[in-house]
Amino acid sequence: MIVTLEFSGGLAIVSVDNPPVNTINAATREQLFAALSDIRARPEVRGVVLLCLGRTFFSGADIAEFAGPPKELEFRRLFAELEGLPVPVVVGMHGTALGGGLELALACHYRVAIPGTRFALPEVTLGIIPGAGGTQRLPRLIGVEQALELILSARPVEVSRALELGFLDAQVEGELRAGTIAYAQALVDSGSGPRRTSERVVDPMSATPAIRERLTAQARSQYPHRSAGLTAIEAVFAAARLPFEQGLEFETELANRSKETIESKALIHVFFAERETRKVPELPPEVRGRPIARAAVIGAGTMGGGIAICFANAGLPVTLIDSTREALERGLGAISNTYESMVKRGRIRAADKELRLGLIRGALDYAALPDADVIIEAVFEDLELKRKIFAALATLAKPDALLATNTSTLDIAAIASATSRPQDVIGLHFFSPANVMPLLEVIRTDSTSAQAIRTALDLARPLKKTPVLARVCYGFIGNRMMEGYAREAERMVLEGATPRRVDGALEEWGMAMGILAVFDMAGIDVSVNVHKAHADKYPPDPSYYQADFALHAAGRLGQKTGKGYYRYLAGDRARHDDPEAIALIRANAERLRVPQRSHGDAEIVERCLLPIINEGIRILEEGIAMRAGDIDVVWTSGYGFPRYRGGPMFYADTIGLKAVYDGTLKYRDLFSPMHWQPAPLLARLARDGRTLADWDKARD
Ligand SMILES: NC(=O)c1ccc[n+]([C@@H]2O[C@H](COP(=O)([O-])OP(=O)(O)OC[C@H]3O[C@@H](n4cnc5c(N)ncnc54)[C@H](O)[C@@H]3O)[C@@H](O)[C@H]2O)c1
Repeated sequence: MIVTLEFSGGLAIVSVDNPPVNTINAATREQLFAALSDIRARPEVRGVVLLCLGRTFFSGADIAEFAGPPKELEFRRLFAELEGLPVPVVVGMHGTALGGGLELALACHYRVAIPGTRFALPEVTLGIIPGAGGTQRLPRLIGVEQALELILSARPVEVSRALELGFLDAQVEGELRAGTIAYAQALVDSGSGPRRTSERVVDPMSATPAIRERLTAQARSQYPHRSAGLTAIEAVFAAARLPFEQGLEFETELANRSKETIESKALIHVFFAERETRKVPELPPEVRGRPIARAAVIGAGTMGGGIAICFANAGLPVTLIDSTREALERGLGAISNTYESMVKRGRIRAADKELRLGLIRGALDYAALPDADVIIEAVFEDLELKRKIFAALATLAKPDALLATNTSTLDIAAIASATSRPQDVIGLHFFSPANVMPLLEVIRTDSTSAQAIRTALDLARPLKKTPVLARVCYGFIGNRMMEGYAREAERMVLEGATPRRVDGALEEWGMAMGILAVFDMAGIDVSVNVHKAHADKYPPDPSYYQADFALHAAGRLGQKTGKGYYRYLAGDRARHDDPEAIALIRANAERLRVPQRSHGDAEIVERCLLPIINEGIRILEEGIAMRAGDIDVVWTSGYGFPRYRGGPMFYADTIGLKAVYDGTLKYRDLFSPMHWQPAPLLARLARDGRTLADWDKARD
């Protein structure tokens, strides 16, 4: 039973238990309907208490139901019955009251919660609007302006704020059930009756044209290219002019419309794709990950330091090892600075900083290695050095320890083969800054054991990372797909487009940051060094990455030298156009005889995106990634690809694989067959009129 009903002292107590997070799925709704009709049939009931058991109040509607027919009417009917009860209905909340869960609470007559409860309407982050009465009830309680602040921010508010806004009546001290029952009893004793939100009137001063204008501007800047925020404004403002029932009709119409947008389909796709990445169909289900209680990180540089922070943040002790005292002290100093700035920005308390720093121990030798359950190597990108370290690890590490490398470009199989236990070796590719970026590529070799894979995927959870499993190839998933993207961006600069033109078109399309600005941020030397070290892996094109090489030769390494593709003022990351950079690139274009052309926005975007998609399809075909959805997660969580476009593979389906294929051939004919070869799988799927979503399904 999900819903249980008890009667005690004139009160009906409805308890809901639908683990793990009490979603309001079909079975819950059905049992709630039954409980309400039971309550109605008992005239002795003088008040109703509604509670959820387990770790949280209702966490919302069941998103899995989105695929089926719309459920708004059913929710509406359920909430109308709840609100229509002739006796006071008190809801007691704990955990998080999210989305449909909060909307249900708004349909109750009185709302109380224990300290620590959080409330949010996060629908716009999924491209939809609250569709179970929230857009009509919330403004009746707190006004249009505040209702929209909550809906547009999509972020949770605490009990104190909920009380201040006025959609929460009281904070319950002590135990939730006893406190809520006492609250209901007091209402009944004082003769209070139902207090229906739907019967309240919206404060007209909260819905002026000036407020609407301000909120519209806010939604446009917060959610560029997206419609859900604007649709929410339309719905909530309707509460100020329409009677309640008509307002609900209008809300349903808008909610259904928002569910049909590509934006919501894309956002929901990413939401589910992120939850799928840990599923590895071929791993036997009985394989369990090994427990991780202690870690060691070798190399206290940029990445090693960030990785150590991830462990300390998870409450796991970690030893950070470097070969020189100077490097170790620099690394530990950088970690301390990172925590200090987190304290200054109010992200953590000073006591947390001390606690976390206390979990990180520096060392200049390998004495701590035998205690570690996972060892992550993050030394210089040098195969021989890494092989030497892994050979030593194989004898020093405890028998079942996970031996991980953070390499970006080296062959992990070659690293694993240096050890006597390649089954324990895996790639854990963190992204910079490692303590901030959510993506973690997990790279298995042909020798990595099922248990090591499971351990690595499980480890991502406490580290708060989204893991994506890949097989070994140069660049793994993300960086391999970056190659053609950056190639075209640089080529267009050589063809005469300014860096701002290229980055501007990409950002206007939705990329978090244009690729040339990304290079300036990461350091142009980083990509030049990789291209020099792996020259044999790239096509014989004399113009390949030559914009980078030209800037590098002139000492323009990006933000760290104050100039790269752009110019930067000291202490400021704002980009300024730099005629010197443009002249330098132009001189190189002349030397290389690169024909000049002018580029429309559409060409810039196509030339950058089509190679990303094409390479992604190759990666699928080669089995490097398990699913198209995994590739989308890599790009939305690690490369600034807009979530509301669903990731490159989802986006490819929305424009159609035929269009991707034809576009690739168009540029092949216009430019070079060296770079624009459609992946065989793309050709096949385009010919058969299929999608990458089909491809994913067929493999499940
Ligand atoms: N920087 C990035 O954006 C990034 C992103 C992902 C992966 N990576 C990879 O992470 C690894 C580290 O990169 P980084 O940017 O942190 O480099 P870094 O140069 O900042 O740090 C490397 C550290 O390793 C130490 N070291 C060298 N030899 C050692 C040894 N034998 N024993 C112990 N410590 C030793 C060095 O003293 C230095 O502190 C590389 O494999 C790199 O490819 C880097």
